Amino acid sequence: MKILVLHGPNLNLLGTREPEIYGSMTLSDIDTRLIDLGKGIGAELKCFHSNHEGALIDALQDAQMWADGVVFNPGGYTHTSVALRDAIAAIGIPVVEVHLSNVYAREEFRHTSLISAVCRGKIVGFGWRSYWLGLRALTDMLMERAGEK
Ligand code: DQA
Repeated sequence: MKILVLHGPNLNLLGTREPEIYGSMTLSDIDTRLIDLGKGIGAELKCFHSNHEGALIDALQDAQMWADGVVFNPGGYTHTSVALRDAIAAIGIPVVEVHLSNVYAREEFRHTSLISAVCRGKIVGFGWRSYWLGLRALTDMLMERAGEK
């Protein structure tokens, strides 16, 4: 299984960005761990980060050509981007929304996600493990769908 792990704006600052909220792991720590763990469950990961909405849309459209699914943390764009929602709805492969923090325990504007309704599911609040749990759920579902489970 080929999976895109996609990170949105400001996630490149993980490690130093509000560590009390987001933890102390860097983005490359998270990617390395996920790639390693992915190997154990038969998932080949490509990880990509961008601070730019258009680049994230390009990555989603491109994933349609090669990936079986996407694990996506859209950062602040979660709460604002119709264009990302449209891209997810358009590509027709399952996307799992993930957030490091529990967005529902934070400011009210973070309680709204424009993308949740077009995602296969969503995991929030478990730090880097939100990605891992999202990846597990996605790959499990893909295997079941392929009749391998
Ligand atoms: C975040 C939550 C968003 O509200 C915030 O803008 C982020 C990170 C998270 O992973 O908890 O940049 O997506």
